Amino acid sequence: MIVGVTKETYPGERRVSIIPDHIPSLTKAGLKVVVESGAGLEAGFPDPLYSNKDAEILQNRSEIFSKSDVILQVRALGANPENGKSDLEFMKPGQVIIGYSEPLSELDASQELARKNVRLFSMELMPRITRAQSMDSLSSMATIAGYKAVLLAAETLPKMFPMMMTAAGTIAPAHVFVIGAGVAGLQAIASSRKLGAVVFAYDVRPAVKEQVESLGAKFMELELETQDAEDKGGYAREMGEEFIKKQQEMMERVIAESDVVITTAAIPGKKAPILVTTKMVEGMDSGSVVIDLAAERGGNCELTQADKTVVHNGVSIIGPTNLPATVPYHASQMYSKNITTFLLHLVKEGELNLDMEDEITRETLVTNEGEVVHERIRDLLGLPTKTTKESDGS
Ligand code: NAI
Repeated sequence: MIVGVTKETYPGERRVSIIPDHIPSLTKAGLKVVVESGAGLEAGFPDPLYSNKDAEILQNRSEIFSKSDVILQVRALGANPENGKSDLEFMKPGQVIIGYSEPLSELDASQELARKNVRLFSMELMPRITRAQSMDSLSSMATIAGYKAVLLAAETLPKMFPMMMTAAGTIAPAHVFVIGAGVAGLQAIASSRKLGAVVFAYDVRPAVKEQVESLGAKFMELELETQDAEDKGGYAREMGEEFIKKQQEMMERVIAESDVVITTAAIPGKKAPILVTTKMVEGMDSGSVVIDLAAERGGNCELTQADKTVVHNGVSIIGPTNLPATVPYHASQMYSKNITTFLLHLVKEGELNLDMEDEITRETLVTNEGEVVHERIRDLLGLPTKTTKESDGS
């Protein structure tokens, strides 16, 4: 079976789906790897590093598609809406595409790929279960985003993060408030602490209090009903309007006292809740910084504009949407590990072996045999539920 690695075509995307070091594990499993020339260059992996690991370098993108049974990408069509379209003409029926595809929002892309009769596996749909941890690329990328958010904040803030006692006087430490203590948030807390800031954090899931505290931050407890905040997949549920309003009032004070606010509150597939209002920003000191990691989903701050820095009353609100691409070497290394582990999960004796009873396989498969097969996406498309084995028997 041949596995193809293409050069990413999304503007500003510098990651590559497979790094040279992970090729031997694929070769050992009976797979041959072909790589589009220059695919890893921007991430720090030039062609010779791939050839040294026995990958074949091909100049032509169409050749990668025509030769490969499986195409590995960082951004497949839905996550690369404009440029991704030019790959459609190269795809062949039955071909497997694995990558990000924004499956819960870019519904047309899934349908388009179904029409091409390709099998799309979306990395975003990886279940957050222990068995799939090494394949969970959203967590890997969120770790990078949390770290980089802190560096961005430190770079923008006209103050230093650590406390310093110098002959020229004492410098007070920066106050950082992290909203949403999931993967990105916990890394933002850890990185802010390493730089010496005083860190406060808040999450609707009270279960994270201990983790926040173990990183040396203070967990802000808002006395609100939070027992239903977590779904069975470990993700946050969408909270009601009244809850969000109460939460906003309570956070106003903490935000006013913060030099940096980092927001990461996301509900998969949904628009991000507004947690930081214009009024709250106006309560912050001039020079303060808001880093909104939820910018891609509309943002947690009312003033956020995706991939822009908005300055309001002297406060900078920064909404980066692709921080992992700014650390392409390690982001590629982590993504490559995740996608390699996932691919090997789908392969047996050098061939694809799709076990639809397996949660990881079933939950990530979006299209198969000419149709969208993922139940959640079918539901969003208004398509009837597919008959399952269980219901066959009933
Ligand atoms: P996660 O699901 O692990 O964490 C999100 C956290 O927010 C959860 O702990 C959840 O309980 C919390 N939350 C949800 N609603 C809340 C509310 N109303 N108030 C307080 N907390 C709330 O997600 P992860 O993996 O940490 O990702 C976080 C965000 O970072 C996502 O929006 C993701 O898209 C984004 N991200 C952004 C990148 C960028 O370059 N901007 C790169 C990677 C991730």
